[in-house]
Amino acid sequence: MEQQEIYKGLAGVPVDYTAISKVNPETNSLLYRGYPVQEVAANCTFEEVAYLLWFGELPDEGELAEFESRERTLRGLDHEVKRVIDALPATSHPMDVVRTAVSFIGAADPATPDDSAEANLDKAIRLFAKLPSIVAYDQRRRRGEAFVEPRDDLSYSANFLWQTFGELPDLEVVEAFDVSMILYAEHSFNASTFTARVITSTLADLYSAVTGAIGALKGPLHGGANEAVMHAFAEIERAERAASWLDEALTAKRKIMGFGHRVYKNGDSRVPTMRAAFERMAAHYERPDLLELYVALEEAMGERKGIKPNLDYPAGPAYHLMGFDTETFTPLFVASRVTGWTAHILEQQAANALIRPLSVYNGVDQRQVPVRAGR
Ligand code: SDX
Repeated sequence: MEQQEIYKGLAGVPVDYTAISKVNPETNSLLYRGYPVQEVAANCTFEEVAYLLWFGELPDEGELAEFESRERTLRGLDHEVKRVIDALPATSHPMDVVRTAVSFIGAADPATPDDSAEANLDKAIRLFAKLPSIVAYDQRRRRGEAFVEPRDDLSYSANFLWQTFGELPDLEVVEAFDVSMILYAEHSFNASTFTARVITSTLADLYSAVTGAIGALKGPLHGGANEAVMHAFAEIERAERAASWLDEALTAKRKIMGFGHRVYKNGDSRVPTMRAAFERMAAHYERPDLLELYVALEEAMGERKGIKPNLDYPAGPAYHLMGFDTETFTPLFVASRVTGWTAHILEQQAANALIRPLSVYNGVDQRQVPVRAGR
């Protein structure tokens, strides 16, 4: 058998350029179009970050006002989309609901075949504006609650919380939610973004690429980890049980969700900012017990495996405290990452090459079909 090096999982393999973000494990840093993500999270809104990822520059006042008003007019859900969501069982996983709704929007959009940058930017902004309605509606219908119409007098994050819970959120919660949207927005060639680029490289349309990316993000090794963190916390129940729970889990060879990363090997650059937001939520909702559990598991994991948290670890409990159902967590990731995915779709299109790697055959040697009597 020919011996050739295999790069399983494409680990450590650079496959293209990108100007959208820079993930640097050596310095444990992440730049969005050159800006450190911590500075962006502290000084920008998610609307400004979406603009930055798509256009390459932060908007000035006039550009931001125009962009915000454009996004706000697109927030509503057509009744056909609601009908498609309602046709799905309330037991459908919210990631399947989001994937189906996006696929339907694409199937119904007359502009789908138009792959000009301008038309694709329109689609990207439309999905950015409508995903909060989709995600919020699915959580509410599972609870037997009616759809809440978007409000165009609220920011993206305030409106997202309004549509989910039907009441005006506290400013501190809005700010923590907005930070999470900024941190989840973009992370170079992660599995779901690379999926979107592979689909785009065949000249398939933007909606097909986003639908595929949602499928990839659902997996617990990727976006689904934030849900799985909360399931683990529910198993552990309280800080005193974290170490023994972890010993059992590691003995059973379980992956501890919310820990480790393919690129960051000394901690995820986004964690300190998201942890601070989680700590503010633990104080706001008077849940020091959840923070104690968080710290206990992180310390136990560090002692036993030397593996640090990734963004999903603080994001999960923060979303739990805000009132989101656990299965809604990864759809929140979709609502944020649709900005990064679509920025990469536009970039892939601008300098496209069909993505088609090689494989090394390790099956049986060539042989002949046996002649069979009577044939
Ligand atoms: C995201 O790529 C991105 O940028 C993704 C993301 C983004 O913004 O798009 O950052 C978002 O997906 C974050 C990751 C969320 N996933 C999880 O939290 C799932 C749990 N994490 C692991 O499955 C794992 O850490 C991965 C998949 C994230 C990365 O794993 P790698 O780089 O493929 O490394 P590996 O699985 O081969 O692990 C190396 C060793 C193994 O030990 P051995 O089998 O060699 O003895 O470390 C161990 C692993 O078992 N290990 C873990 C572990 N992570 C690594 N052991 C237990 N629990 C873990 N979480």
